[in-house]
Amino acid sequence: MSKVLIAPSLLSADFSELAIEMKKVTEAGADWLHVDVMDGNFVPNLTLGMPIIKSLKPHATIPLDVHLMIEKPERYIESFIDAGASYLTLHVEATTVLKESLIKIRSLGAKAGVTLRPGTSLDLIKPFLSLVDLVLVMTVEPGFGGQRFMIEQVEKIRQLKKWRDEGAGNYFIEVDGGVTVLTAKTCIDAGADVLVAGSAVFNGEKSVANYQKNIQALKEI
Ligand code: DX5
Ligand code: ZN
Repeated sequence: MSKVLIAPSLLSADFSELAIEMKKVTEAGADWLHVDVMDGNFVPNLTLGMPIIKSLKPHATIPLDVHLMIEKPERYIESFIDAGASYLTLHVEATTVLKESLIKIRSLGAKAGVTLRPGTSLDLIKPFLSLVDLVLVMTVEPGFGGQRFMIEQVEKIRQLKKWRDEGAGNYFIEVDGGVTVLTAKTCIDAGADVLVAGSAVFNGEKSVANYQKNIQALKEI
């Protein structure tokens, strides 16, 4: 069995029962909980923010992996870490002060992550690799769950692994968007350490048994 970590995306969970859903996927074998924060500006969708993360945190027994899809995320770094983010991931396109922001995240005791839209070149994040604990490769256009996996993005996973092997940094390579039992193998073969999965985990019955079956199917690849 591969050692890949699974981070179910709460975006596909039942929002009226988020704490319960978190507990169920944790019991079902999730390694991290992926939280998608959207501002209706950086992406054409709105989800949740600090107050909800803060109220969920006491119910979380595994890391909260917070993916900020918001403009000027530097405005809220402290608030998200106070709210309970274990990993805080910023989009390179959303800020002009990425370096300072990543340093700030680490100085406040959280893990720093960087990510990029499918159309953005890896060259833009290359200078920051020694400052991050996580690089998130988007394999869909950020904004919505349930989209089709963009296979051409897999090259970024390979390149990030190569750079890490060459000593560029010590980061997890995480993949987000369209991860299913059909696409997970390509990601793992290319070097992914963490798979975000929304629909692939939360599809079907809202039971621990179903979530366990879905998570196991991804882990067994
Ligand atoms: C998209 C989000 C993803 C999304 C993944 O902007 O970042 O985390 O929820 O959903 P699936 O796994 O359904 O593609
Ligand atoms: Zn995400």
